[in-house]
Amino acid sequence: MIYKVYDNTDELNREAASHFEEVLTSVESPVLGLATGSTPVGLYKELIKLCKDEKISFKNASSFNLDEYVGLDAAHDQSYAYFMRQNLFDHVDINIENTHVPSGLGDNDKVCADYNAELEKHVVDIQILGIGSNGHIAFNEPGTSFDAVTHVVNLTEQSITDNARFFDSIDDVPKQAITMGLKNIYASKKIILIAMGENKADAVKMLIEDAPNTDAPCSILQNHDNVVVLLDSAAASKLTK
Ligand code: PGA
Repeated sequence: MIYKVYDNTDELNREAASHFEEVLTSVESPVLGLATGSTPVGLYKELIKLCKDEKISFKNASSFNLDEYVGLDAAHDQSYAYFMRQNLFDHVDINIENTHVPSGLGDNDKVCADYNAELEKHVVDIQILGIGSNGHIAFNEPGTSFDAVTHVVNLTEQSITDNARFFDSIDDVPKQAITMGLKNIYASKKIILIAMGENKADAVKMLIEDAPNTDAPCSILQNHDNVVVLLDSAAASKLTK
């Protein structure tokens, strides 16, 4: 795992985008692993710019998102399907048919099984990740097995509180989500993890300094041989090494 610390978040996002550019311009049918939340928004803006400037194209790309809330349909403005259209898909030349976000309204067991089957067929070339303040990646909350594949998860109070800022009230935050498991994420050829802000500093310390353990789901990434961690100085502030 390598990590870099930035004073300037524009530079950080350009660095993240350059890894996606490399994949999009060198792989014939690139498979992208995508994320939602505040963290990837700057990266997506960079990718939209690169696409408008015709430096990259998503024409031959497909994508798999990490997660979706249970109970929200794709038209709900806080669903992750909606987020992806707003923040990326509607602004680039990706074929929407080739984008995958698990459905929050289907038969959950079938949605998970189908998603795992698709992920068996398509190896993700590059995955963008944020990190939760509790060390989760996607919605793999503390305690999740490193062998977990796509599953339904009961969100922790911490994750619900962290995400309440997107909803009118904390009671509106869904209590469950469908998430790719740690094993699915680990199968990506390359992983870019971005963390910004002081409230991520404890999680970043777990990510980089804790021995791999399931209380810190992010720590699984230490065993992966192609992970780039991009931090702002606040997120890096608790690192001791
Ligand atoms: P955030 O969420 O990007 O909105 O901070 C990250 C996460 O929970 O993984």
